[in-house]
Amino acid sequence: MSNPIIQVSALTKRFGAVTALDGVSFSIEKGEVFTLLGPSGCGKSTTLRIIAGLEDASGGEVKLNSRVIFSAEKRVNLPPEKRNMGMVFQSYAIWPHMTVAENVAYPLKLRRLPRAEIRARVAEALRQVGLEAQADRDAPKLSGGQQQRVALARALVYEPDILLLDEPLSNLDVKLREQMRLEIKMLQERLGLTIIYVTHDQAEALSLSDRIAVMSQGRIEQDGSPDELYNQPRTEFVRDFLGKTVTLPGRIGAVNGSRASVVLDNGAGQLAFTPVAGAPPLSSGSEVKIAIRPERITLSQVAEGGENRLSGRIETVLYQGDRTECTVRVGDDIITIYGPPEARAMKNQDVELFLAPEALTIWPS
Ligand SMILES: Nc1ncnc2c1ncn2[C@@H]1O[C@H](COP(=O)(O)OP(=O)(O)OP(=O)(O)O)[C@@H](O)[C@H]1O
Ligand SMILES: [Mg+2]
Repeated sequence: MSNPIIQVSALTKRFGAVTALDGVSFSIEKGEVFTLLGPSGCGKSTTLRIIAGLEDASGGEVKLNSRVIFSAEKRVNLPPEKRNMGMVFQSYAIWPHMTVAENVAYPLKLRRLPRAEIRARVAEALRQVGLEAQADRDAPKLSGGQQQRVALARALVYEPDILLLDEPLSNLDVKLREQMRLEIKMLQERLGLTIIYVTHDQAEALSLSDRIAVMSQGRIEQDGSPDELYNQPRTEFVRDFLGKTVTLPGRIGAVNGSRASVVLDNGAGQLAFTPVAGAPPLSSGSEVKIAIRPERITLSQVAEGGENRLSGRIETVLYQGDRTECTVRVGDDIITIYGPPEARAMKNQDVELFLAPEALTIWPS
C-alpha cells in the first residue's frame, strides 16, 4: 500500500456484553471501491459508522490521509461533519415535504454555503445521477430507484473525499438493483470516487469492488481482489459465502510433488489436482474433502474416459433459460452442477463429468 486514504487499525467495539468488532484492520487507496461483505450481525455497519464518526470504537484507530481522526487510546474523535465523508444508508432517508433539489441542497445549507453556489452544486449533483428533470418534484413521490439516486446526489453534493454506502440497494427490486449497481460503478469510475461499500450480497460485492473484506463475527476472515477471494478462499466460510461449491469426501492417494490425487469415498474413481504451493504437505491416506465451483465442471454425453472424468447420471434438471441446474448422481454422492440449456432433455441420462484439475481445492474433512 503506497498512500492509503483510510487506515483502520485494530478496531474493537463492545455493546455491553456483545463484541461487535474484534480487531478489524484494513487500508484503502484513493479511488478504490472497498467492500465489507458478510452475514447479518458480523459488524459491517458498525465499522462504517465508526469511520463516519457516528459511533465511537472501544479500541483502535482510524486515519484519514495519514491524520488520526479517531483513536480510543489518544482520545481523538473528529466530529462527523469535519471528516468530509458522504454516507448513504440502507433506508435512504429522503426528507419528506421537500423537493428533490431541496433534499440535495440540505447538506450545503447546513454548511452555510452561498445560495448561488448551492444552486450550481445541486444542479451538478443531480446531473451526475441523471435527475435534472426531476429537480422540482416532491422527493417522496419518486420511484425507489429515483429516491436512491437522490440519496446518492445528496451524499455527492459536497464533494466528499470518501463515499460510505451501507447496503444502498437492498430496498430495490432485483432488476433495479442490477441497474443501480452499474450506475454506481460508472459514476465511481467517472468521478474517481473512493467508496467503502457494505453489503451481504456476494454478487454485488464481486461485481462492484476492487477489493473485498469478508467479515464474520466482528473479524475480517480474508481480504483481497474479488478474483482472489472467489478462486483462492482461505477458509470454508469465505468459500461458501462467495458462491456455490461442490464438495466430495475422499482420501489422499498418490502425492508426487506438483501433482496429487484424491480417491473418492463414493466409489466413482479418483481426481488429480495441483497442491497449493506453500500449503502444509499432504499425507497419503488422510481424509479430506475435495472442492470445486460448479461452473468448473463440464458435462458431456459422450464417455471419453481419462483423467478427472467421472461417470454420473442426471437425476433432476431445473431449466433456467440460459443454462440448467442439474443434480447428478456420482457413485453414492449427489452433486449440483450447471449444464447447457440442452441438458433440459437429459433427465435420467448417463453423462460424463470433467473436473478441471487446476480448479480443485483440498479441505480438511
Ligand atoms: N446500538 C447497538 N446496541 C447494541 N448492540 C448493537 C448496536 N448496534 C449493533 N449492535 C450489535 O453489534 C453486532 C454488529 O452489528 P452491525 O449492525 O454492525 O451488523 P451488520 O453486519 O451491519 O449486520 P446487517 O447485515 O444485519 O446490517 C450485532 O450483533 C448487533 O446486534
Ligand atoms: Mg448493517
